[in-house]
Amino acid sequence: MRPCRSLAATLAVAICSFHAVCALSPPICQAVAPQQNNLTEVLTGYVNVTKPPFGLAYATNQKHIAFVTLDKTNDSTLGVLDTSTFIPTLIHQIAIPVTLTGVEGALGLTLTRDGRHLFVAAGPGAVIIDTALAATGSADSIVGALNGTTATQTPGTAAIEVTLTKNDKYAFVSQEYGVIARTQGRGNIDVFELHKHVQNGSITGTPVGSISLGFAVVGTALSKDESLLYALSETTTANDTTPGFLSVLDVEKLKTDPANALLGNVPAGCGPVRVIVSKDGCTVWVTARESNHLLAFDAAKLVQDPDDALIASVQVGTSPVGLTFARHESLILTADSNRFEYKNATSGLSVVDVKMALAGDEGAVLGRVPTGLFPREFATSPNGSTILVADYDSDQVQAVDVATLPKAS
Ligand SMILES: *[C@@H]1O[C@H](CO)[C@@H](O)[C@H](O)[C@H]1NC(C)=O
Ligand SMILES: *[C@@H]1O[C@H](CO)[C@@H](O)[C@H](O)[C@H]1NC(C)=O
Ligand SMILES: *[C@@H]1O[C@H](CO)[C@@H](O)[C@H](O)[C@H]1NC(C)=O
Ligand SMILES: *[C@@H]1O[C@H](CO)[C@@H](O)[C@H](O)[C@H]1NC(C)=O
Ligand SMILES: *[C@@H]1O[C@H](CO)[C@@H](O)[C@H](O)[C@H]1NC(C)=O
Ligand SMILES: *[C@@H]1O[C@H](CO)[C@@H](O)[C@H](O)[C@H]1NC(C)=O
Ligand SMILES: *[C@@H]1O[C@H](CO)[C@@H](O)[C@H](O)[C@H]1NC(C)=O
Repeated sequence: MRPCRSLAATLAVAICSFHAVCALSPPICQAVAPQQNNLTEVLTGYVNVTKPPFGLAYATNQKHIAFVTLDKTNDSTLGVLDTSTFIPTLIHQIAIPVTLTGVEGALGLTLTRDGRHLFVAAGPGAVIIDTALAATGSADSIVGALNGTTATQTPGTAAIEVTLTKNDKYAFVSQEYGVIARTQGRGNIDVFELHKHVQNGSITGTPVGSISLGFAVVGTALSKDESLLYALSETTTANDTTPGFLSVLDVEKLKTDPANALLGNVPAGCGPVRVIVSKDGCTVWVTARESNHLLAFDAAKLVQDPDDALIASVQVGTSPVGLTFARHESLILTADSNRFEYKNATSGLSVVDVKMALAGDEGAVLGRVPTGLFPREFATSPNGSTILVADYDSDQVQAVDVATLPKAS
């Protein structure tokens, strides 16, 4: 790849480290990814959790506790894991009533910044859990629910991810398939203003409105300064084979007039599903599931120069979904799900060297960590030493010992 220096990149250098690469084209669709080297030295272990695990989050106000949504039609629960040992133990399950989840079950998990509550994406919005009560297995730990119903708006039924603002004042809920009658199948971001009631410990959410994006809206993440929300749509049309895109949304506008919050859309390969942002806010990382690629976008260019925003495109394993940083952001792991069960593909985690990826180095994937079936989402322990993976189709939560991952260059 030919190094080049654009005006926008030169301007961006003041805030973000300079990405010395030419603009790339988004990757095309690909069924099965090439085989990778197996990293046999990486220590992992499993716990059986009896139902398909989806979202994962470590408690920040309890020692050695993590939460996992266990997604089963009509019988979803929130699992509580004791993580004091390397392989966690499932110590409690808290029933999440089907009246709150609908048939789609309990999906993505998001912890509030103060650590006191968990938002479980479900049905028309989210179920809100008190983490201290949940850690004890209390059936009273559900303290609220978000429901996008208003006088003029019917919510969708398939909320899948929640992103909260830093002050826990607003929730942005990905309603994957929107409302068929109202959005013609386009996914939504539904916005809720949150209210904490100190007298009784409950939380309520007032629906502010919503914005329709492309088809199958899932992953969202805030920019570092929280002025922007990045949101992914898997496809541009109802045809599954069309590429997807990353939308950049204005957060202030989302809080008051969500339908007009779109700043722009940037192509993001086939089936983009999850997004994370580097701690310095400079790089936005996306898994393009139907391209088998990990993409990096220059955050400044997503707004100023979208055509040049894609700065790295890394071939990973088959059908990557979740992604997470490891070792102080020197590595990224992707959860290569093989969720479409291609006969000649494997599931696993690609271990990507971040610096090499940004330099366009073909050796950026250091290898593959074997997993159970359909690894989906991740959580990293507060001390950084363990990464949990939800192996959705094996009903297992897998622990990865970070110290045994390869070191980045
Ligand atoms: C890695 O391990 C998988 C089984 O988990 C196997 O199917 C694959 O062939 C191995 N890859 C290589 C390059 O040896
Ligand atoms: C977990 O479940 C699998 C499949 O049912 C079973 O083979 C395995 O023995 C179980 N492991 C433990 C530790 O219970
Ligand atoms: C880090 O946290 C994990 C998960 O709670 C725990 O199992 C492990 O013992 C902790 N490690 C250290 C060194 O405290
Ligand atoms: C959401 O609110 C509407 C209107 O009040 C109600 O009909 C519906 O049952 C609620 N859904 C859930 C899951 O609570
Ligand atoms: C808690 O208090 C708020 C504000 O007074 C009220 O709207 C809500 O219904 C109460 N919730 C419960 C579960 O009592
Ligand atoms: C979807 O698009 C592909 C090409 O991109 C085309 O071959 C196929 O016929 C389309 N399917 C439908 C249902 O429109
Ligand atoms: C793997 O299967 C896909 C179709 O699922 C096929 O296109 C590809 O050629 C196969 N690759 C190998 C190495 O067998």
